Amino acid sequence: MATMLQQLEDLESSALEELSAVADDSALEAWRISYLGTKGKLRQVMPLLKDVDAAEKPAVGKRLNEVKQALESAFEKTKAGLRGVSDEEKITVDLTEPGIQMGAGRRHVLSRTIDEVTEVFARMGFTAVTGPEVEDDWHNFTALNMPEDHPARDPIDNYYVEGGLMLRSQTSTVQIRTMEKTEPPIKVTAVGRVYRPDTHDATHFSMFHQIEGLAVDRHLTLVDLKTVLFEFAKSYFGAEAEIRMRPGFFPFTEPSAEVDMKMKIKDQWQWCEMGGCGMVNPNVLRSVGYDPDQWMGYAFGLGIERIAMRKYGISDIRWLYENDARFLRQF
Ligand code: DAH
Repeated sequence: MATMLQQLEDLESSALEELSAVADDSALEAWRISYLGTKGKLRQVMPLLKDVDAAEKPAVGKRLNEVKQALESAFEKTKAGLRGVSDEEKITVDLTEPGIQMGAGRRHVLSRTIDEVTEVFARMGFTAVTGPEVEDDWHNFTALNMPEDHPARDPIDNYYVEGGLMLRSQTSTVQIRTMEKTEPPIKVTAVGRVYRPDTHDATHFSMFHQIEGLAVDRHLTLVDLKTVLFEFAKSYFGAEAEIRMRPGFFPFTEPSAEVDMKMKIKDQWQWCEMGGCGMVNPNVLRSVGYDPDQWMGYAFGLGIERIAMRKYGISDIRWLYENDARFLRQF
């Protein structure tokens, strides 16, 4: 008679071989009864243990346990495997469920404003151009007729970076960059970020956006400038909007003016300051090599945030940068 160890060996290998052929739940149950059941093959070999030599008993007993565990775990594995492919469970997606609605993204209210404003000026013949945010002293100040000791150069009011460069404090820099590389006539707008150290509150932020406008031609007057701003106000804020120009001062324009636009806010007509403008100072034309006796120009700079806040009734500039979806979803 084969030794008990040999019998266990044979039992294990035939059991595992049969199990590998099991393809459904009922075959698996039959296998379980046949090998692991109370009258199964494993049970049948157990009584033989008492006939084993006392010296071999521990080793055979250990082997018996191992085979039992091996068959049990093979059984559980096969059961789980059959589960995984059972017909009901093969379908993991219920196609009849309504599904999760994807939130549609949208453009940021500022990006939208920039596009809309640029578009209004484009319809009046202004080409959109851009310039760098890291600027040099020449483009941010000197070429714009701001002398060495001009208070706007104060380090307290600017972000200076290495190499004598700075983050531009105004988009007027793009006037210079455009004129330096283009022959007149010119009619451009430039939208972009500008930077000024400021304590953040409802109306101040250390980074904001401006739209700059510049026209240079043989003959331009304040009337041309005012017409462009007037048309902008009407088409952007509505036919009833108005503009007014108050005398102001900017080194790069002469004469200069502050621009206000009158618009309806919560059913109340209000004048809102939108930016500055003026006729390009001859010194600026000279700095880019234009002959001021041949050419003249007008320029304006408006705050994009102001425009957006007025248009959409936003009362705190900080909301524009917090990326709170609850706020952004409203536009
Ligand atoms: N650069 C000015 C500012 O940042 C705004 C401005 C005023 C721009 C007059 C102009 C202008 O082009 O003509 O406050």
